Amino acid sequence: MHKVTKAVFPVGGMGTRFLPATKAMPKEMLPIVDKPLIQYAVEEAIAAGITDLVFITGRSKTAILDHFDKAYELEAELAVRNKTALLNLVRNIIPSHVNCIYIRQSEALGLGHAVLCAKPVINDEPFAVILADDLIEAKQPAMHQMTELFNYYQCSVLGVMDVAREETGSYGIVATQAMTAVLGKIDKIVEKPQPADAPSTLGVVGRYILTPRIFNHLENIPFGTGGELQLTDAIAQLLTEQQVLAYRFSGIRYDCGSKLGYLKATIEHALQHPEVRTEFQAYLNSRCIKP
Ligand code: UTP
Repeated sequence: MHKVTKAVFPVGGMGTRFLPATKAMPKEMLPIVDKPLIQYAVEEAIAAGITDLVFITGRSKTAILDHFDKAYELEAELAVRNKTALLNLVRNIIPSHVNCIYIRQSEALGLGHAVLCAKPVINDEPFAVILADDLIEAKQPAMHQMTELFNYYQCSVLGVMDVAREETGSYGIVATQAMTAVLGKIDKIVEKPQPADAPSTLGVVGRYILTPRIFNHLENIPFGTGGELQLTDAIAQLLTEQQVLAYRFSGIRYDCGSKLGYLKATIEHALQHPEVRTEFQAYLNSRCIKP
């Protein structure tokens, strides 16, 4: 019986929708209130029992390495000033039993290419893929829900949600045979179909558990839409030989790769943040009063 102990974080994208903020800084370092997107993703993986974090980095990504590394000068300064709580906060971002591994994606050739870059460290094991710009707020973290399913079914699982039909062109869309109200066996997956051509309105969001067989397909598919190696195309091939499940996770997903989704996530998190929630709520209330 296999367990998922490794997670891949593709952070090599260009982040063009957030320029100029992402000119010198990766979009995964954009904060939601006071924590960068990538840290939410890493915490979700660790909560699912994952111990090896594989970051596929690109240009301008050194901030991510620094964020998860020891910060000697900052720690020394906080210690001198007796800022114990803050010191613990920066020291304990990554628990000691968890490893960070960094692989450079030399060119942004697509999500499929980024995942393929992880092959040398994944070897022959199932693994998770987490896109940090899909922030999912859930009682039980979404990846934990998915590893539990993997432990039972021992096959690839994709996180999916219902999307508006007019938005199918922004997602990989799956056609499924329902197994339960939240789980289905995928028959077909199509990348970004026009609403009229979409086989359903179930869209894949940035949570995957994949069997290592995916690498074989990533190595053999041609470059697809936009000259990129598409993960969806490799999953379509995987479907021809293995069962792949679509799971409607419970939780709320924010598309933090878009400005609007990012703003929504920021507001919702600010309204829950113990330090600012009361004053922020009062501020929002005051803004809603019409003159
Ligand atoms: P996106 O489609 O959101 O692209 O990538 P992007 O470049 O990050 O952002 P925009 O559209 O230009 O604003 C989806 C995920 O795949 C990763 C991204 O970092 C993001 O997490 N990715 C994409 C890579 O790691 N490498 C790539 O070559 C492309």
